[in-house]
Amino acid sequence: MANSTDVALGAPPSKKLRTVKSSPNTEALNAALAASSIANPPKPVEVIRTDYKPLKWIVKEVELEFRLFDGYTVVDSTLIIGKNPNAADDDHNEYEGLVLNGDETNVKLLSLSKDDVNLTRDEYDLSPGKLIVSNVQEGSVVKMTVEIVPEDNLQLSGLYKSGGMFCSQCEAEGFRRITYYPDRPDVMATFKRVRIEAEKAKFPVLLSNGNLLEEGDCEDGKHYAVWHDPYPKPSYLFALVAGDLGCMSDTYMTKSGRKVDLKFYSEHGNVSKLRYAVESLKRAMKWDEDTFGLEYDLDLFNVVAVESFNMGAMENKSLNVFNISCVLACPITSTDANYQRVEGIIGHEYFHNWTGNRVTCRDWFQLTLKEGLTVFRDQQFSGQVNNSAAVKRIEDVLVVRGRQFNEDAGPMSHPIRPDSYVAMDNFYTATVYRKGAEVIRMYDTILGSKGFRAGMDLYFKRHDGQAVTCDDFLAAMADANNVDLSQFARWYSTSGTPTVTYSSSFDAEKGLYQLTLSQSSRSDEPLFIPVAVGLMDKESGEEVVSTVILELKEAKQTFDFSDLKGNVVPSILRNFSAPVKLVPASDIDESELAFLACHDTDGFNRWDSAQRLYTCAILKVMGQEESKSTIDLVHQTFGKTLTDETISDDSIRAYALKLPSESTLAESVEVIDPPAIHLARKLVMTMIARTFQDQLMSCYNKLTALIEKDGAEFNVDGVSVGRRRLRNVCLAYLCSIVDTAEEQSTAAALATRHFESATGMTDKLSAFNILVSMRGGGEEARDAAIKKFYEDANGDPLVLDKWFASQASADLPDIIERVKNLVAHPDYSLEKPNRCRSVIMSFTMNEAHFHDASGKGYEFLGEMLEKLDKVNPKVAARTTAGSLIGWKRYGDERAKKMKIQLEKLKALPRISNDLSEIVAKGLKK
Ligand code: ARG
Ligand code: ZN
Repeated sequence: MANSTDVALGAPPSKKLRTVKSSPNTEALNAALAASSIANPPKPVEVIRTDYKPLKWIVKEVELEFRLFDGYTVVDSTLIIGKNPNAADDDHNEYEGLVLNGDETNVKLLSLSKDDVNLTRDEYDLSPGKLIVSNVQEGSVVKMTVEIVPEDNLQLSGLYKSGGMFCSQCEAEGFRRITYYPDRPDVMATFKRVRIEAEKAKFPVLLSNGNLLEEGDCEDGKHYAVWHDPYPKPSYLFALVAGDLGCMSDTYMTKSGRKVDLKFYSEHGNVSKLRYAVESLKRAMKWDEDTFGLEYDLDLFNVVAVESFNMGAMENKSLNVFNISCVLACPITSTDANYQRVEGIIGHEYFHNWTGNRVTCRDWFQLTLKEGLTVFRDQQFSGQVNNSAAVKRIEDVLVVRGRQFNEDAGPMSHPIRPDSYVAMDNFYTATVYRKGAEVIRMYDTILGSKGFRAGMDLYFKRHDGQAVTCDDFLAAMADANNVDLSQFARWYSTSGTPTVTYSSSFDAEKGLYQLTLSQSSRSDEPLFIPVAVGLMDKESGEEVVSTVILELKEAKQTFDFSDLKGNVVPSILRNFSAPVKLVPASDIDESELAFLACHDTDGFNRWDSAQRLYTCAILKVMGQEESKSTIDLVHQTFGKTLTDETISDDSIRAYALKLPSESTLAESVEVIDPPAIHLARKLVMTMIARTFQDQLMSCYNKLTALIEKDGAEFNVDGVSVGRRRLRNVCLAYLCSIVDTAEEQSTAAALATRHFESATGMTDKLSAFNILVSMRGGGEEARDAAIKKFYEDANGDPLVLDKWFASQASADLPDIIERVKNLVAHPDYSLEKPNRCRSVIMSFTMNEAHFHDASGKGYEFLGEMLEKLDKVNPKVAARTTAGSLIGWKRYGDERAKKMKIQLEKLKALPRISNDLSEIVAKGLKK
């Protein structure tokens, strides 16, 4: 843009520029528009999937220039226009001209020209959200200058400031908050030149996508960098970073011999915490080569850590931007789960380079095309590199059942490929991501890993460089394997969680076992459900039929197993082979669950059977039903699991000993009464703890000795993680015995010792999470730990987030007052999404207290959301989607109080589109 002829561009880069107008019309119009959209904000528009139309005119090449001033930024763009080859003449959308999207509340248009002639008012049409330029032709050059104020951008969408640095987030529709542009994923342009200019002392690092073409100094202490990205991309993959950042560098040699520079940037003080992320990236690069033959395609790969970020991370081409919580790791500040998350998300964003960037989505309804597939890929990666596929599977299924099933049961329920949206950001959901990954996993289960790989190969062969649909992916899988997957396609259009019901019979004489499966779902026609089944001999406990995949394609089907020597116990839906609820046709056979919990050869189902058994016990206690026989089975199972020598993985043992979470338990009841669930779970936990107190203590001590023997060296390998996990489960059980003042102080002493002797955050936080809920004889220890944890944090944002989250999750009678104090704390800020989540979201997930019968929890949340919506509507919408809108399931009294808060939000004079979409869904009859 350096040689543009526009008046504005020749003006000296000073504050004065803000009033420069090269085209008086645009200036006047901008003012009028801004005023009118404040007076009557545009009505939210619902976008419908089947309305998709390609644009007539697209951008083929783009050049951008960013001049970052103190308090505002000037963006010049040059767009080379071309006719869309994908649009047949009668096929394109209703507009004849070039349609550009722009958020006029954020972007101020200063000048606009076509083929170097300033446009007059009758040559373009400016309306809220849209700028249409008429009379363009193949090769037309459209130039414009706009001004934005990143400093005021608290939504964190578009270009904004986090701490002292500039950074960008453009997915899904943030680029239109930077400049006017056809901001949709099916417009793939080459970003030929991106020039960034800023003050050198404050912003020594200037980054964008692709390769660095040029850099140098300008006048007045400024400098610049020019970037070129050879791969055409949609605007949502654009990124810009400018700041004073430290860097950890490494290199990776690809399979075919390309040397790739890996550069990880963060605030200077955090650079040493980038090591684990760098190592994770190298593992991910190797894994993708080995597993899918996919290599990195540039010589440079940048990752930047940012404190204020709405989500986990973003896969911008060669310039991934990460929430600090997903990239920084060190033993003193990070838990084992944090390490795992870093590895998983580093993998995820890297894998997007092929599944998302090289092949992208045609429109946002196809989001699961890249997200479901990429989540599946990161899950496989994490499961395989750490040698603990069963543990990883358990963790992933916990999320599907805990969050996705819950979403399916509420008013936000949607198919993995949604049919409409108002704010696309509301559809970055557990359904699109997690259920989407389960759907991809089913292809792998049905086709086998070789067949899946063949499908992937064909997908890339056909679609590299294109923006495509979920149907294209399915077609590649089907064609590569020569199978018909048209029935399978129903998974893309069916919302809700399907149910699979099973019953069986055994003919001892014939040695014939018959398993009958039936399905029900919101689909009019049956789904194709792969059900993995194995059979265990009832007498010996040995596996007599190893895993087979039953293809359930009809409403009801019976599968025969012959030549059996004796009766069997079925192990159904092994490894969670489909995202469904599995229920017996008649009453649950608890002894079968106990049997599988001790014998199943499928690690996942062994764990799951124990969970189902624990659930039976907790629900019986809650309903004050006769529960003795169930509790006996629980004790048998727990005792066997605690001591079984054949379990070699401590993580598996730990998960098998843990009781299902309150939110998982909620999935099994008609009307959710969170305090009742909480109480029943606590009773069962304490009962188990009392029964096995000695064994738990000796397991705890044995692990302590092993860990101490290993010495100071901190490791996050499976064995070390497993030991800590199991030891912390023992600790939680032991500290649940708190019925008397004496027991309270004993528990507090044990937790305090654990807290004080912790060598890393995993142990420290486990103890802290217990201590924050201490009452009576444990109060002193609780208050001391709260003080100590804060001091030790020494201002580290990620540790402070834990400090806030843990307290907001505490089980204390005065918790609401405490949470109110937390939001009044000087370290609290609505402008930092991580901090906001750590208090507000943590509190909404503290189910027993958030859902306090008084309704005080709802009132508090309502007040917070009202404030938050003005600052960061995306986080406000997400928090609401995860809490208030599920009112239907909480009984009339609670429902009424939850709805009052939704009504209040609905009545807000200036509610955001993001929040209003969720509120409207939440209130829909
Ligand atoms: N594509 C990113 C990821 O999953 C997430 C981007 C989220 N953006 C949003 N506006 N919700 O890796
Ligand atoms: Zn993703």
